[in-house]
Amino acid sequence: MTKRLKIINVVGARPNFIKIIPLIDEYKKHPGKFDSILLHTGQHYDFDMSKIFFDQLSLTEPNIHLGVGSGSHAEQTAKIMSGFEQMLLKEKPDLVVVVGDVNSTLACSIVAAKLTIPIAHVEAGLRSFDRTMPEEINRIVTDALSDFLFTTCEDANINLKREGIPEKKIHFVGNVMIDSLMKFKDVADHSNIRKTLGLDSKPYGYITLHRPSNVDQRKSLEGILNAFEEIGHELTLVWPVHPRPRKMIESFGLNSVTARMPNLVVCEPLGYLDSLHLMMHARLVLTDSGGIQEETTVLKIPCLTLRENTERPVTITEGTNALVGNDPAKIVAEAKKILSGINKSSQIPQHWDGMAAKRIVDTLLQSKLN
Ligand code: UD1
Repeated sequence: MTKRLKIINVVGARPNFIKIIPLIDEYKKHPGKFDSILLHTGQHYDFDMSKIFFDQLSLTEPNIHLGVGSGSHAEQTAKIMSGFEQMLLKEKPDLVVVVGDVNSTLACSIVAAKLTIPIAHVEAGLRSFDRTMPEEINRIVTDALSDFLFTTCEDANINLKREGIPEKKIHFVGNVMIDSLMKFKDVADHSNIRKTLGLDSKPYGYITLHRPSNVDQRKSLEGILNAFEEIGHELTLVWPVHPRPRKMIESFGLNSVTARMPNLVVCEPLGYLDSLHLMMHARLVLTDSGGIQEETTVLKIPCLTLRENTERPVTITEGTNALVGNDPAKIVAEAKKILSGINKSSQIPQHWDGMAAKRIVDTLLQSKLN
């Protein structure tokens, strides 16, 4: 008889919750095989950045909450590390599962590696080749320490091999974020959010923005707001404002720019179902998020990414995504092209089929951990 695998699954920030759901569901399909613990570091803590995801998506409450909160990168990472070390010493799991590229992913991987506990990294191998991005540092370190590297695309496999990761550790399984999208798409379609925001059946563009490179400097943030103002003359824009730009708009005194913008609908950060609903029905999406580049590709919605690079190039080569940086003229020109009906053709990348979590769990069941 095989033993039960004791797994600590780490979540910390908004996109992590979406990525872990399919895995938790999948463990449950194998009664007696897994002892699964959900650990929330507390990196994100506001109701609409964290709890709403558990409430709306029937994700079971975390078994362990470290409650670390915000801080500088070093402070936040250090707090997560010391809390997580105590938990690992107490729980002694067989495996730690980390997802994505946030500070919680990095911090927990370092601690597990030093205690010689195997690590599985879900969404391994993505590279923007831009080390000014905190997430790029998180990805490189996490991948170097992981024992199971679960990838979403062929370019990730190539990146890992180039970095000397042995091929037997790399498993091309697909995209757990897309597993969640497929699971929740129909429920999300019933959301009332367009009605609540007064959009009804009006065409609109959907904005998400939070990268430090876009929002932490006045010049870039102001330029982006000016581009939104210009696009707003042709299309209503809906923007659920993340806490980081909200604080920066206030501290730079830019509230007057958003206040004068025509057809701008701003709201608090939204839960997954409302956000997915707005994405599904948008004329176009303007974003600097990682996951939204992937979701729009599967939904076949045109996406303009306000970054100079992406760790998800398959969304450009195969999907609906295009990079526009943060130059206001370029953002406006590309948005106008889409509004005039010029759309790129696209296809859904390999293995983005709702089966990624199954492939991951099958790999774990067949591994030497058992
Ligand atoms: C983090 C991740 C980023 C991910 C994003 C998703 C890192 C380095 N960054 O960025 O990769 O794409 O989450 O949203 O891990 N804040 C609140 N309430 C909250 C959470 C944060 O007010 O619940 C404020 C705090 O002032 C904090 C700031 O937002 O300083 C930024 O939060 P933080 O978790 O550091 O980074 P994000 O920009 O959210």
